[in-house]
Amino acid sequence: MAIGVFDSGLGGLTVLKAAVEKLPEQAFVYYGDNANTPYGSKTDAEIYDLTIAGITRLFDAGCDLVILACNSASAVALHDLQVNWLVSDKRVLGVFVPMIEELTRRDWGDNSPPTHTGLQNVALFATPATVSSGAFERELKFRARDVEVVGEACVGLVAAIEEGDSLGAEALVDAHVATLLETLPNPQAAVLGCTHYPLVEERFRAALPDATRILVQPEIVANSLEDYLRRHPRFVASGGVSYLTSGDPVEVSRSAERFLGHSLTFSAA
Ligand code: DGL
Repeated sequence: MAIGVFDSGLGGLTVLKAAVEKLPEQAFVYYGDNANTPYGSKTDAEIYDLTIAGITRLFDAGCDLVILACNSASAVALHDLQVNWLVSDKRVLGVFVPMIEELTRRDWGDNSPPTHTGLQNVALFATPATVSSGAFERELKFRARDVEVVGEACVGLVAAIEEGDSLGAEALVDAHVATLLETLPNPQAAVLGCTHYPLVEERFRAALPDATRILVQPEIVANSLEDYLRRHPRFVASGGVSYLTSGDPVEVSRSAERFLGHSLTFSAA
């Protein structure tokens, strides 16, 4: 039984890559909803319905555990679908929890009142849907006292990265970081809260103050998955990686090669 990795498109391949490096024997099925990407500019209701459809496809492919690699879906849909939709012994894990555990050094299951974690402020770079959901700030403040979160919706950045427009993407990173620094000149930590942003991590590093700690999701999520599997060995299964898309498989395989720098073969979902 493979582990499913779901994203609105190609961005989740950054998370999958880190997971495969960490767990090379584990079987994975990746599903990119390329026909409906991007999610970051959709309404909450649209994101909720598309996320359920994507997870269902991976359940149908035999995955009992799905990593919701899309931040927009994790921010907008995950809590509600876990409460209102997810039944049975299937599991869906998002990409926010590992980031918040890493920032606060608190286990997710620790529901004690917020504590002083040493964290004073955090910059969140993400899609409009993720920033406007307020989910990251809410969950962080539930655990960490007196922490300020400043979100910057990086409009246009996902499209520039998808199109392989590196100059445009770098200019957008510079502009969005400059906007955020007007409000928060010295962020203690910066979260790259979108699947695509690891691909422009160096530009974020160059644009942010040297002292700002940058949290890059793929490695943090992969470490957290390894830990989860140690505690839940029923989801461990060896095998290869397969790739599904709701879009045109030939077109998506070509884009994926440009995106990651090596060839991948997608099949129709
Ligand atoms: N995967 C999305 C995220 O991490 C970015 C792409 C999109 O907007 O769909 O938020």
